[in-house]
Amino acid sequence: MSQTAQLLEQARSAVEGAVALDELDAVRVKYLGRKGLLTIQLKELGKLPADDRPAAGQAVNEAKQVLTEVIRQRQAALEEQKIQETLSAESLDVSLAGRGIPYGSLHPVTRTVRRMQQIFSHAGFEVHTGPEIEDEFHNFTALNIPENHPARAMHDTFYLESGLLLRTHTSPVQIRAMQQHGVPIRLIAPGRAFRCDSDMTHTPMFNQIEVLAVDRGISFANLKSFLYEFLSKFFERDVELRFRPSYFPFTEPSAEVDVLSESGKWLEILGCGMVHPNVLEGVGVDPEEFTGYALGFGVERLAMLRYGIDDLRLFFENDLRFLDQFS
Ligand code: DAH
Repeated sequence: MSQTAQLLEQARSAVEGAVALDELDAVRVKYLGRKGLLTIQLKELGKLPADDRPAAGQAVNEAKQVLTEVIRQRQAALEEQKIQETLSAESLDVSLAGRGIPYGSLHPVTRTVRRMQQIFSHAGFEVHTGPEIEDEFHNFTALNIPENHPARAMHDTFYLESGLLLRTHTSPVQIRAMQQHGVPIRLIAPGRAFRCDSDMTHTPMFNQIEVLAVDRGISFANLKSFLYEFLSKFFERDVELRFRPSYFPFTEPSAEVDVLSESGKWLEILGCGMVHPNVLEGVGVDPEEFTGYALGFGVERLAMLRYGIDDLRLFFENDLRFLDQFS
């Protein structure tokens, strides 16, 4: 075999043996590069007898062409192989089941507030709101709680440096609404209230719904019948209520109301009473002409009863295992 043919055979098997593109390129350089083995053969043609040169030259050129083509094919194969490897390494199994999107749900306190609002709006009560940062006048004074009155101390108030405070109840909305709209009025005021207090049954922030109805001829009997009707709608059963005489500076007479839970326990859910004449006079309403009832619900208390929850703090821990149960 001629030396050219031998080189070509060596080069072919080197090409076959190359398993990566850089190895293949090294083979190309070794045989076809500027100082490659076949290239040198061309340069050394001159050393041959003149008669042999054309045939030898043709043979070397053919060998170069053959090798170039062999390398090109091998390169294409290696590139294809590399693409396939990348594809299978990055492949997605589109038949796998998806993870799904978890759905959120309304917080049980929000659900309770909305449910109450709905029942109240059917009974003709309008929703009013007031600021969470209040002044002493609306939170206390106008509600017949003068300065130095012990009831102020009962409220564990958060005072701000400005002299304002975080409202300790939603009752100040009664005052703002009557100042703005006068009477007769029927309103509910859902909102947050704040007290410096924390244990199993108290949190520093809690939700109340204030109710106020002022008109001519409203009596305590209206208040009682209204409560029975409202609470039976809310709990979707006949409710048993217990009215305990109580004291609130802004109502006279006053009562606290307990409801009998399905597990047979009495639970306090609201304070109420007939609006105190001083409160009405303070907003320019004649208490001889107008009377009214007012009440303040603890929303979390109602939610606990309705959903059978016994620890108030669960509402505010944001534990999804708890919240998921309301979706
Ligand atoms: N504001 C009272 C509280 O937070 C609750 C309350 C009691 C509201 C009697 C009223 C009411 O409107 O008449 O403890």
